[in-house]
Amino acid sequence: MCGIIGYVGTKKCTPALIDGLKKLEYRGYDSAGIAVVQDGQIVRVRAVGKVAELEKAVAQDKPQGTCGIGHTRWATHGKPSEENSHPHTDCSGEIVVVHNGIIENYLTLKEKLQTLGHKFQSETDTEVIAHLIEENLKHTRSGSHEQRLFRAVMKTSAELHGAFAYGVMWAKTPRQIIGVKNQSPLVVGLGKNENFLASDVPAFLKYTSKVLFLEDGQTAVLTPDGVKLYGMDGQETKVKTTKISWDEKTAEKGGYKHFMLKEIYEQPQGLEDTLRTAREDFGRILGLKTTDLRNIKNVYLVACGTAYHAAMIGKYYLENFAGVTASVDLASEFKYRTIPPAENTLCIAVSQSGETADTLGAVKKAKELGFKRLAICNVLGSGLTRACNSVFFTHCGPEISVASTKAFTSQIISLYALAIFLGHASGNISQKVFNKLYKELMAVPKAVADTLKIEYDVRHLTKKIYKSDRFIFLGRNVDYPIALEGALKLKEISYVSAEGFAAGEIKHGPISIIDKGTPVLILMPKNLLFDKMLSACAECRARGAFVIALTTPDGKEEAAAVSDKQIIVPQASEYLQPVLDIVALQFFAYWVAKRLGRDIDQPRNLAKSVTVE
Ligand code: G6P
Repeated sequence: MCGIIGYVGTKKCTPALIDGLKKLEYRGYDSAGIAVVQDGQIVRVRAVGKVAELEKAVAQDKPQGTCGIGHTRWATHGKPSEENSHPHTDCSGEIVVVHNGIIENYLTLKEKLQTLGHKFQSETDTEVIAHLIEENLKHTRSGSHEQRLFRAVMKTSAELHGAFAYGVMWAKTPRQIIGVKNQSPLVVGLGKNENFLASDVPAFLKYTSKVLFLEDGQTAVLTPDGVKLYGMDGQETKVKTTKISWDEKTAEKGGYKHFMLKEIYEQPQGLEDTLRTAREDFGRILGLKTTDLRNIKNVYLVACGTAYHAAMIGKYYLENFAGVTASVDLASEFKYRTIPPAENTLCIAVSQSGETADTLGAVKKAKELGFKRLAICNVLGSGLTRACNSVFFTHCGPEISVASTKAFTSQIISLYALAIFLGHASGNISQKVFNKLYKELMAVPKAVADTLKIEYDVRHLTKKIYKSDRFIFLGRNVDYPIALEGALKLKEISYVSAEGFAAGEIKHGPISIIDKGTPVLILMPKNLLFDKMLSACAECRARGAFVIALTTPDGKEEAAAVSDKQIIVPQASEYLQPVLDIVALQFFAYWVAKRLGRDIDQPRNLAKSVTVE
């Protein structure tokens, strides 16, 4: 996720900007830049890569000044490059903008601005903000430069759609930065004769712990002497500050103990951001000649690790909603098995990083076989996005914890969206059915937010069993991959043996490993297969297992009769239930590992992205 920093005060701002950017590095980024007002002009320095690269460039250019903004960019529109790095300017080069989020209507705005004569230098959505402010300034001629900029920014914000936070500086107002927040994070740090704007508190915690958390729709005007806050109606509102007692490390994690826990809690936002662009993006992807998705008859899904489990669920979706034959392969297996050549075949590669060597290898093979290739990926500009004909981005933001959580749920809903859009386009599902499925999909972020409330119950439950040396997870249908993922999460971070099985399979072998007290987590939301899962509970309990039933409110009583403990998650439609169920298992893995004192964010022997075969 992009990081914003701004400084206005009496000291030279460059060191505070670079410091701030370093503190925002944990958010993940591919390029960085700063802009400073120097002798009435904007001096801009940008670099691809790490902040260290920017620091080298800054050392050469030495921008001097007491007012500046900086940015770490996590690419969403346009590849990582110097031209696409922030800050972005208007045509005059006097207005500079840094931004985090997505401007959904940027193409419409860009076309409008281009017809008015504006020249764009980047592929980003951000640049429209700078040009729009420039345009709006032309219509605000009265008052001081400071007042004019404020009015132009207010007008601009009202024209933008989407989730965004941005900071603006104008060469003609060298003692003022304006910050706007709408659904993306933005905070203000209040110092003595100096004030800061940032995406997150660690960026300025070294200088001040007095913080103002902006609310959606608010605009902050920062000068060295103070900060003023305005609502959407342009009326000034009261500034309420908070004193932060976190140290820098805790602040990076937003007050959470681990990135994994923070990322579990970020899921509603990640899902909402992913879904925000789904209709438009899938519309574009389905219309592409290069993939010709409407005529696709066979699909191969390829992925590794957690992404593989999302791909497994994708198979159910594609077959059920789109009516195409789908198979799922571990990318490392797909590369070496015989795949018969076939027409109208699509390979879908699912990957958080887009750099997993096995997945890249599988896609290379798919290309050799003449298959069309679609990536579902979280990192713009990654190897995978370049190797495929089309890409759908999961906009859940960078994932720092090695154990994947929010990327997984965003992959599942992306595959669901793909399947229903494809099914609708090919005529496999009617408009009426599509509308119902789409509505259910849009309700998922809120349902996940409700599911987060079970953390306390799950935490409490793990107290009794965290010392077990073996855990078993059972699921059926779309919850079968969830059982596998629940087991994977647990073994990744707790280092204990955990296995997931299709519930119907336990009687064919796995039941022999159940001993007295073995914890068995059974995924049994109240749906068509509920009765079958009641039998699975009984079978395991008869062998002495400690049965934990993960069910929905309607299944609670019956589940309680055949299990030792119950975890109750909200009810969703059958095919979207996995997104809620996995949240419970993420908490489960987290709390077992936490009680065992494991290194949760950096578990032994594992890498976030495996770039070797
Ligand atoms: C590594 C990570 C896993 C991840 C897998 C695939 O093994 O530790 O968490 O699921 O790679 O990564 P990708 O970036 O392709 O989704």
